Amino acid sequence: MKGYPFHDGPLFARNQWYLAAWTTEIGHTPVARRILNQDVILFRTTDDKVAALSGVCPHRWMPLARAEITQDLISCPYHGARFDHQGTCVAVPRQDRVPPGFGLRRYPVVVVGPCVWIWPGEADRADPSLLPDSMSLGLGRAGWRTDLSHPFRLGARAQLLIENLFDEEHINVVHPATLGGCQADVFRDAEITDTPDRFAMTHRTAPTPVDAAMRALFAELGSHACSDLTIELLGVSLVNNIGSRTYSADASGAPKRLMGQMNFIHAITPETDTTTHYFLAQTRDFNVEDADLSTLFSERNAKIVAEDAAILEALEPMIDDWGDARQETSFATDAIAMRLRHRIRRIIAGDRAEVASDRAAP
Ligand code: FES
Ligand SMILES: [Fe+2]
Repeated sequence: MKGYPFHDGPLFARNQWYLAAWTTEIGHTPVARRILNQDVILFRTTDDKVAALSGVCPHRWMPLARAEITQDLISCPYHGARFDHQGTCVAVPRQDRVPPGFGLRRYPVVVVGPCVWIWPGEADRADPSLLPDSMSLGLGRAGWRTDLSHPFRLGARAQLLIENLFDEEHINVVHPATLGGCQADVFRDAEITDTPDRFAMTHRTAPTPVDAAMRALFAELGSHACSDLTIELLGVSLVNNIGSRTYSADASGAPKRLMGQMNFIHAITPETDTTTHYFLAQTRDFNVEDADLSTLFSERNAKIVAEDAAILEALEPMIDDWGDARQETSFATDAIAMRLRHRIRRIIAGDRAEVASDRAAP
């Protein structure tokens, strides 16, 4: 079922920001990445800006992953056509004239903290006001610790992963050792926000007496602690999964003082229709010097990713084989994931309508 779960069209909106890379990945040689079915190279210019261009030479389709870049000039490794960092062709071998329209497409990019955001749609629509608010999650923010994982490639379509992150029911089954019990029940009575600006579930835990493990994280906690636990979608491609704000509380439950915040951030960028780049980060504004704590979470995250990947990569070929012959059935516990699916469907439909109205314009 090629278009699952949307059935009737593309699997993602092109006119949106997607995470292309962490800044730490980008140097002065090209990083080649396929993003929304488009081959892209990313690199740093001599003034240390990040540029993104089409990753295929339009002469004979040579991939530019191995192109040399000297003084911001990219040389095609096949016949040596040269392009500047804006994608304009400045030299063609043995002729003075550059063929009309011959050049590399340039993609809008914006760097925010450790994130390189790319706009794969129409460049003149690239709207910085639509950038996911990664700073609110502490990514690269002063006073916060940010730990990035190397991008992971998932052999399944992006929507499966996005819905999985909002699917509380699989947690005890798929992640019994890594997450079991600690997330699955907290969203039963969560507050859901589903407005044009925000899609999130938040639950405040009841105050519990502080144990030694909590005390190790927050030395100044009082007798009790409670937390706001949140799952939130930012833009179409960034999910903060169980961002936690921990408060010192008294036994009555009144939160007294915010002690710290921690986020587990997932950036999800379609590579092709059926494969996905998966970027993970964790941020926190407490114990920022504690590298062991970061290692602990990073190792656990890697296990969780592998557990989810095993499931989603098993689903993908089944979905591909279905044709339209099989209908899925939803459970009551799928409600939040289905709301999310409708939201993304609306965004994709809006994207298509915009592009269609442009084509219809005189
Ligand atoms: S393929 Fe690039 S110049 Fe020929
Ligand atoms: Fe999972």
